Amino acid sequence: MAAERSTASRRNFLRSVGVAGGAGVLYSAMGALGLAPVPDVRAAEYRAPRGSDFALSGRSGKKVLVLGGGIAGLATAYELGKAGYDCRILEAKDRPGGRNWTVRGGTSLTDLDGRAQTASFSKGQYMNAGPARLPQSHVTLEYCRELDVPIEVFTNQNANAYIYHEKSAALAGQPMRWRTAKADVYGYVSELLAKATDQGALDAELTAADKERLIAFLRNFGAIKGKADGYAYTGSDRRGYAVEPGAAFEAGTVLGPVPTLSDVIASGVGQRFTFEFGYDQAMLMFQPVGGMDAIPYALAKAIGPDRITYGAEALEVTDLADGADVTYRDAQGRIRTRHADFVVAAVPPMVMARIKHNLGADVTAALKYPTATPVGKIGLEYGSRWWETDEHIYGGITPTDTDLATIWYPSYGYHGSRGTLIGYYNFGADALSYSALPHQERLARAVSRGVKIHGEKYRTELAHSFSVAWHRTPYIEGGWVGWASQNGPEYKRLNQPAGHVYFAGDWLSHVIAWQHGAFSSARKVVTDIHERVMAA
Ligand code: ALA
Repeated sequence: MAAERSTASRRNFLRSVGVAGGAGVLYSAMGALGLAPVPDVRAAEYRAPRGSDFALSGRSGKKVLVLGGGIAGLATAYELGKAGYDCRILEAKDRPGGRNWTVRGGTSLTDLDGRAQTASFSKGQYMNAGPARLPQSHVTLEYCRELDVPIEVFTNQNANAYIYHEKSAALAGQPMRWRTAKADVYGYVSELLAKATDQGALDAELTAADKERLIAFLRNFGAIKGKADGYAYTGSDRRGYAVEPGAAFEAGTVLGPVPTLSDVIASGVGQRFTFEFGYDQAMLMFQPVGGMDAIPYALAKAIGPDRITYGAEALEVTDLADGADVTYRDAQGRIRTRHADFVVAAVPPMVMARIKHNLGADVTAALKYPTATPVGKIGLEYGSRWWETDEHIYGGITPTDTDLATIWYPSYGYHGSRGTLIGYYNFGADALSYSALPHQERLARAVSRGVKIHGEKYRTELAHSFSVAWHRTPYIEGGWVGWASQNGPEYKRLNQPAGHVYFAGDWLSHVIAWQHGAFSSARKVVTDIHERVMAA
């Protein structure tokens, strides 16, 4: 996600989503013994409850009521169901998945401002309005394997996509291919470091042999000239071509002119590369075939559709001596109450904070402590795949310093007759300013920005569109949340049960804004409940 932010705000984001934490990273026993060539990095150990755990114990699976059929709620019911717990899910919306939501033709949404949209995307076209990319290290892929959800490559970073800066001190308004930006940034940085090394500026740090090896590396890394030419970076075919090499005497013409060192630094393009360095981001990522919602639908199927009540809005949670009651309004508007041994509240904290309960003032205060992040996305369906035919872009992302943040090219349907881009995926103030507008005005604004990068076809080829503002979406109310601190009493409070009521969600993990966080939190709660039942 973060290619689109300034370094400072990216750092904040990393802190808020805890990407640097890498919770639960374990080295395998084999690795520790030196038997494996590389350490095996895995999520925290987890063992699903089994029906056989109850054998000879006189115990059996209890009744569990789950509030919220997003990934955390579904995973809770799915995992407890493996051991025969009697799980029921109350979901306020008419579908499973929560923020895992794939918008297709016919999908509709009325937001908290009363703005209604129905998508008119063509058959086979979709946008993943929420999660849209899966890192290889995430347990989400293990669930895809277990649930037979087919996956395909999601191209997150593409050398042929652009970086577009219009507010920069140099090269403003000139879309630059990633490959070109990298060639220039790596080239000039290598030139400077090679010169400094050669001139003795690093003699306190490096031996003569180190210096020689470092310069050999830099010549390769930056494609720079040798000592006789002052280690100059003068451009190379890594930048790409103005005229492609071809048959016979067509040697090609390397893209030029090469901007100056000063302009390359001032353009800020080098600030974008950290995007692919992030542990949860990579060039190569994955997505379920046909839409991210294949995951919640597979979970819902495995749980049993009769165990999920849609259109059920929780109104009150009451902890009791022998379990807990949940009062809710059903799809017909009737008020009902259900009793269970345990309740798992797997809804966003800002939503849970408004549900009446007797769990204590400290719980309410803790629920109000994390803050929701505004997030918006727009899907743009085009009647041609001009980014492939005209610009040779097959998937990937163009980060910008405009209020779009990023433009995403689809990693499915290559060479088809139509395709659906993500025209913005923005956060914070940008997401708020788009969400203040009705859809048609969001669209007009997004297209006016995209035209500056891709030209008029960005407007003329457009067929359909759909936008979502997660912070204005009923029962969701944010793209994700941020915690001022995950070391304080609030976070601790909600990671423990309040009587018979547990809390789960990506917001109770160090992998916020990823399904991995939701799955991990669900697994923790499932383990806690099962251990409690076995110990009782
Ligand atoms: N996980 C979210 C993304 O990849 C934040 O953009």
